[in-house]
Amino acid sequence: MTNIISSSSISPLICFFVFFFWLGHGGAQGIQHSAAAINGADKIRSQFLHLPRTRRSPQVPLTVEPSKPVRHPLFQQVPTPTFSEAMESCPKADIKNLKEQLKEENFYLHTEAGEQGRLPVLILSLKDSKQKRRPAVVFLHSTNKNKEWVRPLLEAYASREYIAIAIDSRYHGERAHNLTTYRDALVSSWIKGDTMPFLFDTVIPPFSFSLVDCKSLFLPFSSYCSKKVWDLIKLADYLTQRKDIDPKRIGITGESLGGMHAWFVAFVDTRYAVAAPIIGVQGFRWAIDNDKWQARVDSIKAVFEEARVDLGKSAIDKEVVKKVWDRIAPGLASIFDSPYSIPTIAPRPLLILNGADDPRCPLDGIKTPTKRARKAYAKAHSSNNFKLIVQPGIGHEMTSLMVKEASDWMDRFLKQ
Ligand SMILES: *[C@@H]1O[C@H](CO)[C@@H](O)[C@H](O)[C@H]1NC(C)=O
Repeated sequence: MTNIISSSSISPLICFFVFFFWLGHGGAQGIQHSAAAINGADKIRSQFLHLPRTRRSPQVPLTVEPSKPVRHPLFQQVPTPTFSEAMESCPKADIKNLKEQLKEENFYLHTEAGEQGRLPVLILSLKDSKQKRRPAVVFLHSTNKNKEWVRPLLEAYASREYIAIAIDSRYHGERAHNLTTYRDALVSSWIKGDTMPFLFDTVIPPFSFSLVDCKSLFLPFSSYCSKKVWDLIKLADYLTQRKDIDPKRIGITGESLGGMHAWFVAFVDTRYAVAAPIIGVQGFRWAIDNDKWQARVDSIKAVFEEARVDLGKSAIDKEVVKKVWDRIAPGLASIFDSPYSIPTIAPRPLLILNGADDPRCPLDGIKTPTKRARKAYAKAHSSNNFKLIVQPGIGHEMTSLMVKEASDWMDRFLKQ
């Protein structure tokens, strides 16, 4: 009798200690290892989130303002592109009159004060779906393009019962006025140090906040701790609140600049459960150290030219390149570069797609990050969640094969 009483009152306590002993001694290696990986990841995320708050505008509550379809989207390149075979080739469900079966939503998410704080969103989905909550895929456009450009992809994903989402990244599409808005913003960022138009503004939160509480709770910070965050993180806030989206099944992918955005937001915000950056992942520091920065610099030349003149140089060299990155995107060529940020995505499914001859994302430049990623995924017992596909004979170009592989990757991890 005594035995029974004492054991029943002690057992919850014993269970408690046994559980921690079990955790601490590798009883559940998977849990232990992925927890260690997540803690390491938290540290670098926290550093990223502490980038200067002086560059941010004041916060506003997350609100949705309905807008209209954009008939003539602004492209900041001449001639205006008209057709992409790769995008058109994205796998579609066989649905009669697909366009009539699609629901289109256009709205602005207010993510901060100021002109750039209005995030234009385009969402396509099937009008009729048997699923109460569907998986979602965000597809991010490349430099000088806009959300309307990726419509063929949105249609294809929507036909397969995804909620398909595109945004205009900062200084693009509806967030641009003319052909030089993005370029002007980059140059201004160099001169004034007031914004981070390359990569970071689209990705990061507006102010620093302590991660200590989140760490002690042992929870992914983004879901529980950051109520007020930026563009893609704000977008995740919005998407995870939608009744028709399964918040655990949100994937992110994109082309070129969009691939870089996908990489960075997957690193920062764990609510993006699956990532497939296309021709975006590269080694920024590696390119400087190995004198392979030319093609990347050429893609946004004006800001490097401005810096060259300011630094009194006769030609752009690696010092100019480093100074520009350090000023307009602090940490991009150092602590947040791919060797450090890519492995933090583990154990979430990550597919990296690149061309073997891409001068903007040289293959040798991603050797270290992919090696480290393989190690991180192996440690988290999720080696199958990491894949690198390098297409032979392809330069800086998103191909049909890449579109198909990214799409299959989403299906594999997001479809039930
Ligand atoms: C683009 O717009 C900006 C700001 O409105 C202006 O300063 C700039 O001169 C314009 N550029 C061109 C090429 O029209």
